[in-house]
Amino acid sequence: MAANGCLYTHIFQRAKHKFTFFLWSCENTLKRWGLNGFMGPKRERGPMTEEENSWFWQDYWQQGQLACCLADDLRAGYDGVLADAWVDFFESLAGGTSILDICTGNGGAALLAAKAGHNSGRAFDILGADLAAIEPMAYVQAAPELMRAIRFEGGVDAAALPYEDAQFDAVISQFGIEYAGLLRAGPEAARVLKSGGRLRFVIHAAQGIAEAGAREELALVPTLGSAHLHDALRQALIAVDSLTHGHGTRPAADAAVEYFVGEMESLDARLKDHPNQATILTLGRRLLGLFESMETVPVPDILKKVDASERSVEAHLLRLESLAAAAANEGDIIAAIDALETAGMGAGFHALMDGADMLAWVIEGQKA
Ligand SMILES: C[S@@+](CC[C@H](N)C(=O)[O-])C[C@H]1O[C@@H](n2cnc3c(N)ncnc32)[C@H](O)[C@@H]1O
Repeated sequence: MAANGCLYTHIFQRAKHKFTFFLWSCENTLKRWGLNGFMGPKRERGPMTEEENSWFWQDYWQQGQLACCLADDLRAGYDGVLADAWVDFFESLAGGTSILDICTGNGGAALLAAKAGHNSGRAFDILGADLAAIEPMAYVQAAPELMRAIRFEGGVDAAALPYEDAQFDAVISQFGIEYAGLLRAGPEAARVLKSGGRLRFVIHAAQGIAEAGAREELALVPTLGSAHLHDALRQALIAVDSLTHGHGTRPAADAAVEYFVGEMESLDARLKDHPNQATILTLGRRLLGLFESMETVPVPDILKKVDASERSVEAHLLRLESLAAAAANEGDIIAAIDALETAGMGAGFHALMDGADMLAWVIEGQKA
């Protein structure tokens, strides 16, 4: 296989130099928004099916993150203002309280509950449920002892909970219930709450920084327009592989490689001044790395990784789109409060701020 790469070492170097220059600027953006660093051309799609709504989250949670956004370290979980406000809430609950965390993901909020209970010498009975086929114990490395104290269930739709009426003392959600639909899932949460039970929902705000970040990145998608990076890489890999197996010609392989590198360079040129270029450049680096791996890795194996990269791009875009669609404005929150009150709750809301940044809406309530 070494012969493949050697033909094109000078091209690898040329393209690599381009994409390494900006990488230092990537990390903060990626951390801040909780993005994996993938981007690709937008595809037209209709409304999401339930299956679609799950696979791209499953893909994300299997990467082992505890948080999906607004945390300094996505693998370590939520921190800062978000976490502090949760701790205040959990400290107001008695030991033994049964807590249901809906749309739990890898259990970021459930873990905060377990930690708060542990730190104050009160154990809670915590269940984390999500529509996606979650398996936090298989993928999350952080806080194994506390994670073990939480039960998790996948395949649970927050808008049709498979639990009895009046089963839980508290129902919580962080950046989750709005995905299931506040008007359906809010009353469902109220239904499974005991009389006197408490709820707290932290909800993406249409004016908030996570939503703004998602929209900024989605706005980049048309910029990528003609940059069919994955296809260009596939063609280059196949052409070089054919050449080394005596099926293709050198000019054809050269043309395919030049096309791929040219696509990368033109992408670089178009994104130079864009503040949110980090994710694209990270994708560029990844694809160049795959290209370069021809020196040591059989092409069929690399092609599988190209497919996986493309799927991750798709998953990333779907997550951003679903965040932007789920984020609530004040009118949505007021409608949700009305629905909760109709379901027998007393409820109110406020904006959770971090300095001048709006992090989220918070709804808190208690069942009569
Ligand atoms: C942004 S993530 C938040 C996860 C977690 N609560 C956190 O704070 O990290 C949204 C989660 O909602 C889940 N979800 C989306 N629609 C759902 C539904 N109808 N019922 C239950 N979970 C749902 C997704 O699978 C995903 O795990």
